[in-house]
Amino acid sequence: MPVQRFILAYMDHILARLASDSFYHLSHASLTGSRCQGLACFAARQLDPASWKQACQSSPTVFCLGQCYLGPARQGEDALPHIASHARTSVLLGNVANAAVLDLAEYCKTGGGQALHQVLRMDSAAVIQQISASGLRGRGGAAFPTGLKWQLLAEQKADCKYLVANADEGDPGSFSDRLLMERDPYRLIEAMLIAGITVGAKQAYIYLRREYEQTAVILQAAITQARAAGWLGPHVLCSAHAFDISLVIGKGSYLCGEETAMLNAIEDKRPEARLRPPQITELGLYSKPTLVNNVETLCAIPWIITHGAAAYAALGTPESPGTKLLSLNAVFRRPGLYEVEFGISLGDIVDKLGLGLKQGQLKGLMIGGPLAGVIPAQLLDTPLAYQSLQQIGGAVGHGGVIAFDDSCSIAELVAQVFRFGAFESCGKCTPCHHGAAEIARHFDDILQGGHWNADRWQALVSALADASLCGHGRGLAEFAQSIQRHYHAELQTCLTSV
Ligand SMILES: Cc1cc2nc3c(=O)[nH]c(=O)nc-3n(C[C@H](O)[C@H](O)[C@H](O)COP(=O)(O)O)c2cc1C
Ligand code: SF4
Repeated sequence: MPVQRFILAYMDHILARLASDSFYHLSHASLTGSRCQGLACFAARQLDPASWKQACQSSPTVFCLGQCYLGPARQGEDALPHIASHARTSVLLGNVANAAVLDLAEYCKTGGGQALHQVLRMDSAAVIQQISASGLRGRGGAAFPTGLKWQLLAEQKADCKYLVANADEGDPGSFSDRLLMERDPYRLIEAMLIAGITVGAKQAYIYLRREYEQTAVILQAAITQARAAGWLGPHVLCSAHAFDISLVIGKGSYLCGEETAMLNAIEDKRPEARLRPPQITELGLYSKPTLVNNVETLCAIPWIITHGAAAYAALGTPESPGTKLLSLNAVFRRPGLYEVEFGISLGDIVDKLGLGLKQGQLKGLMIGGPLAGVIPAQLLDTPLAYQSLQQIGGAVGHGGVIAFDDSCSIAELVAQVFRFGAFESCGKCTPCHHGAAEIARHFDDILQGGHWNADRWQALVSALADASLCGHGRGLAEFAQSIQRHYHAELQTCLTSV
């Protein structure tokens, strides 16, 4: 009997492993020379049609290499983009825009470590009060108030809590987290130490997307150096606090950026999104209270601690305080990574940062990735701020800014976004699993001269909005609704009422 039980348990393990591995697109694939099919590169396809054609035919399918300023991008052909801060004070880009700081002693010479020393002398309520008063909201996409999230974690009574830095940066069109990690890795480590000590988490993970191979090397070296210097380990800087960080490398899945799917991935389970409640602040990684924060959110923390909440809140607007990183794609004349204060107009982002488009007229901006609305050129006087973008069916998201010129038809755009959506769906909800694929198929057909039933389109978009378990399906619906709202006439040419 024990032998049979052993065999059954072993088979269970193999089946679980197969179920988990089959989920990923890049489990065993080499990325060398792979070409990007992400939306930023799609938008830039007219700049190099031959390269885009190769990307569409290449395997494995890669939806963002984080080189959107070079689009259509190819792995291994990277170069540093234009990097500049247009904020009155730079919170995030100091080391990133100057020379990269890849040595801990160098980092400390630039003022690094001061916030950590300060926090070691503060009680956690005072730290949380500072973060709350700064008005910082999550920069990963959901914009949840960071101080409140930390407070929820700190209040949990548990023998063990976890911290996870979300470094998946899956939104095609975004590369800000990559450059933060590659050029200022100790800022992230310092911020994670501050977060862990404040909320009572001793073990932390950085979940990094597989496509960022160079970033992984830099982060691992920084973690090793931080451990050797006593920043990480059983006594952080000789204090009573224990804290350590492990790097987890993804295997190719956009959905793993969604925090509950990410926790399943770290646990080596099939990374589908989890049902909520319970919230992960109560039952997260290995069923323990867990804080998940985006890399950019975390990297703002040391500055807020050393300069004070009021200084941070004085930047931006009262409703959207602080600064935000924006990643501008290759369609702009001057693509690159920019730090701006909230409140800057979309028109200034296009004209003053991006210096307009390389060719054609602006047809629309996709801000915050494919799971957000497209903003037409007529609305460029809208300020970059949470509420104002929401009012016009857009979002700040993670701050990727993809420009589309007037050579891009709405049918092409919808087909591309839903191809991506279907490819990355975890398959748990029918509207997302089957509906996204159906929309992509019909818009592919429209591109060949066909038409599609308007009622069916409407029904699928409503089902996505109402019956999706996670933000992937709901975000696809938001994208579709923005197309209905802002490009209604052109959409109607694709649809029939019978
Ligand atoms: C489909 C999907 C993909 C996501 N991808 C990312 C991602 O790549 N990086 C990220 O930080 N957040 C991503 N998020 C948001 C996370 O679920 C989560 O809200 C965020 O990491 C929390 O950190 P923050 O509060 O600091 O923003 C994604 C959400 C969804 C629904
Ligand atoms: S909305 Fe899509 S990605 Fe999210 S849980 Fe449902 S099927 Fe999975």
